[in-house]
Amino acid sequence: MIKKRVAVLISGRGSNMMALVEAAQAPDYPAEIALVVSNAPDAAGLGGARRAGIETAIVDHRAFGADREDFERALDAKLHAHRIELVCLAGFMRLLTPWFVTQWSGRLLNIHPSLLPLFKGLDTHRRAIEAGAERHGATVHFVVPEMDSGPIIVQDAVPIIAGDTEETLAARVLEVEHRIYPQALRLVAEGRVTLASAGHDALSR
Ligand code: GRF
Repeated sequence: MIKKRVAVLISGRGSNMMALVEAAQAPDYPAEIALVVSNAPDAAGLGGARRAGIETAIVDHRAFGADREDFERALDAKLHAHRIELVCLAGFMRLLTPWFVTQWSGRLLNIHPSLLPLFKGLDTHRRAIEAGAERHGATVHFVVPEMDSGPIIVQDAVPIIAGDTEETLAARVLEVEHRIYPQALRLVAEGRVTLASAGHDALSR
């Protein structure tokens, strides 16, 4: 089989990236993790990627000052240089402009630690607990210009248990993330889910 060439973009720990790297080692997995790119030179995930034998690159957003699009053009050039076909954002903490998002429309995935469209943005675990939610979870979706709003590919839930702290809930959600991101990438790499066919925000169904 021809495996889709995938780049994973990280900014920190990279545990979701490592889950994708491990899943892609299966002979029948329809994608190979060909590149890991970080905007942060000190991202801990870079070590894990290198130890796994994955090519890594750093495109430091601070070198581009306020011009977000210059940063993204450098990022885009790096992806093309490595013949990348699909991009997975995994703990990537830069908001991408419409320029980049439209360049990669339908080929750009993100994982968000909530049951989108609930709790878009940051601090999702604390907000879910404070809201008295009974369930929380994670969502893999196609990226569109509006933050955390693209068509959903895979989503799964966990219970919020009395006494949960942000940390205990985040750990429970992270297990879901590490399971659903490889599932979602498989579906997209096999062409079984596309931007047009993916489920839209649950509330808009
Ligand atoms: C995870 O909670 C993920 O949902 C969010 O960033 C956090 C860190 O993920 N996008 P990772 O360990 O860097 O993959």
